[in-house]
Amino acid sequence: MTAEKIREIISQMTLEEKASLCSGGDFWHTKAVERLDVPAMMVSDGPHGLRKQKDEGDHLGVNDSIVAVCYPTGCASASSFNRELLTEMGRAIGEACQAEGVGVILGPAVNIKRSPLCGRNFEYYSEDPYVAGEMAASYIKGVQSKNVGTSIKHFMANSQETRRMSSDSRIDERTMREIYMPAFEKAVKESKPWTVMCSYNRINGTYAAENKKLLTDVLRDEWGFDGFVVSDWGAVNDRVAGVKAGLDLEMPPSCGVNDKLIEKAVKDGKLDEAVLDLTVERILQIVYRFMENRDKEAVFDKEKQHEFSRKVAEESLVLLKNDGILPLKKEQKIAFIGQYAKKPRYQGGGSSHINSYKVTGALELVKDMPNVIFAEGYNDQEDKVDEKMVEEAVKAAKEAEVAVVFAGLPDAFESEGYDRTHMQMPKSQNHLIEEIVKVQPNVVVVLHNGSPVEMPWISKVKGVLEAYLGGEAVGEAEYRILFGEVNPSGRLSETFPLKLEDNPSYLYYIGEEDVVEYREGVFVGYRYYDKKKMDVLFPFGYGLSYTDFAYSNLKLDKKAMKDTEVLTVSVDVTNTGTMVGKEVVQLYVADEESTVIRPVKELQGFEKVELAPGETKTVSMKLDARAFAYYNVQLGDFHVESGSFKIMIGRSCTDIKLEDTVMVESTKVIQKKYHLNTTFGDISKDERAASFLEPLYAACTMLESCDTNSEESGLGSSSKAMQEAMMQYMPLRAMVSFQNGTIDFDELQKVIDKINQ
Ligand code: BGC
Repeated sequence: MTAEKIREIISQMTLEEKASLCSGGDFWHTKAVERLDVPAMMVSDGPHGLRKQKDEGDHLGVNDSIVAVCYPTGCASASSFNRELLTEMGRAIGEACQAEGVGVILGPAVNIKRSPLCGRNFEYYSEDPYVAGEMAASYIKGVQSKNVGTSIKHFMANSQETRRMSSDSRIDERTMREIYMPAFEKAVKESKPWTVMCSYNRINGTYAAENKKLLTDVLRDEWGFDGFVVSDWGAVNDRVAGVKAGLDLEMPPSCGVNDKLIEKAVKDGKLDEAVLDLTVERILQIVYRFMENRDKEAVFDKEKQHEFSRKVAEESLVLLKNDGILPLKKEQKIAFIGQYAKKPRYQGGGSSHINSYKVTGALELVKDMPNVIFAEGYNDQEDKVDEKMVEEAVKAAKEAEVAVVFAGLPDAFESEGYDRTHMQMPKSQNHLIEEIVKVQPNVVVVLHNGSPVEMPWISKVKGVLEAYLGGEAVGEAEYRILFGEVNPSGRLSETFPLKLEDNPSYLYYIGEEDVVEYREGVFVGYRYYDKKKMDVLFPFGYGLSYTDFAYSNLKLDKKAMKDTEVLTVSVDVTNTGTMVGKEVVQLYVADEESTVIRPVKELQGFEKVELAPGETKTVSMKLDARAFAYYNVQLGDFHVESGSFKIMIGRSCTDIKLEDTVMVESTKVIQKKYHLNTTFGDISKDERAASFLEPLYAACTMLESCDTNSEESGLGSSSKAMQEAMMQYMPLRAMVSFQNGTIDFDELQKVIDKINQ
């Protein structure tokens, strides 16, 4: 429906009707206005499947929802580093939405993994904004190609569950722009999500739900968002302030209480009715977009989608360790150990919880293999060592040639609503692994968890396969990877630190009462470990394959460029092994000479390529200004500092294979302002500015005595360095005192004013 037509409908509405449209009709629908034939539209969670609740609604995953296919959760699907796969997954979910009459799926969830402790990390994509943005944009493209909207969430800085409805994320502007916003920015600019969900928390003192800077200045005015903003369920604090700030739809409805406040504010002249009209227009525009594009023929083919969810899982699992033990051979005597072989943990708790169509554990896949024996090993409902179960498991492991332990985090260890307090697996499972490695040298651990865990037994096992929360077909993907039918190709989209205390947010995470200071700034995840040269358990970008890859022929299409140009980077990748495999080629950029404190390097590109044995492919990636830039607060924009940048091609952030450099010249001039406390060192870098001061230097006695070039000064080298440093860091005002009274502050200020003109 055209904007004019929608406006015409709105013009026929009463104030009460308009205010009432600013909240839902129930837990999952927008409101209808029957008198004017305005339909209601259904929204549902998300993000890794459809949680459509037909009966009683809740946002905690408590009541039943329809049967749907549970895809790998965000932590897993992001590890695929496969944009097309995410788009395909979005398409499948969009198709399910059409078949079920759902107009907007509440996802993707793209908050940055600031700490491994966040209870919702399983839903989120990455510690890296580039990966999170690419995955989100790809997923949105897929869903929306089916004429179903998405709701990218939770905008923003919702990186913990503790006190999520009242906490205040205090973040400096640069960190916000470089780390916490870009995933939203990329998705909004590239894939135009129909809706955005604002988060529960405050950002620098103001609730996201009434944050004009976020919801209007940045989201709409800077990034061009043109859909509606919906509150996270229950995120509204001050409804009228929210309307003014750009929050369109309140969900769930507040039994009309807040609608009444909107009405009253208009009547009292505190809210411009035109602002209300625009809010309603933005909501209706999406409602009609869906209603007019309903695909009544759409079918939710669960069997087909289950198959596809297996494919997504196959690309998402990450092989973390393989001392020649994998793939397993079908004829080997193998012990499958652990409850998660039978009943895998494959999704997380809370609003994303899917009533899954068909869950397959790896054990089911080997039921016809008499050489595979099974022992349960532990019960994940309580963290207690069950000696009898351990004994059985040890016996099975001893009898076999290889033991595969299916372990991980129980539901109770991580969920929406609360954060973890540690990074350990249940003691019962760690104990089980320790007992098994005593009797069996060939042990593989398959992990089911939504976030990194410490692995105290890592040196004693020969293989580790990270299955994350890999969706309902995770067991099938595990089977196929373990037995070599599929070559693993997932890569970590987050760092696995050696221990929790190593994480950069460790000292401040959760905060004090409601105040959470993001003091580590831009040094989130690998940006921190890299800078500190710290050992980690597994680095960002890491993941093994059953084949090997070689890199050669790194080419930059130019050696020097302006920041308005685009650099094309290409590299050849060869499969030097014997099995077909997929490699994730990663491109990192490092600023070699920077006046600001920056990470050592940042991911700015990746491509996943499939290669047959012996095959070589050329992979090309493009870098624009943003890839070289940092956020300059003074400028209020991203800025590239002129200079040399390293272009690095790696297999992970710590395994760089090839590198080259490019000179980038900035076209943006930052006009510096000088003042009495500007140092000599700083002003001397600006030739023009320094020239104004030349005449004053001549009369400055102190400068004379500091003539460190003079041979007669006879100064030893450290004194010389000291003198130079003293001069460099001396503020201009010092000229007044050291200049024999020939210049006073007023005169000096006049010179400075001239420089600043
Ligand atoms: C969650 C959202 C979810 C909403 C609706 C909230 O508690 O934070 O992610 O979409 O509930 O279930």
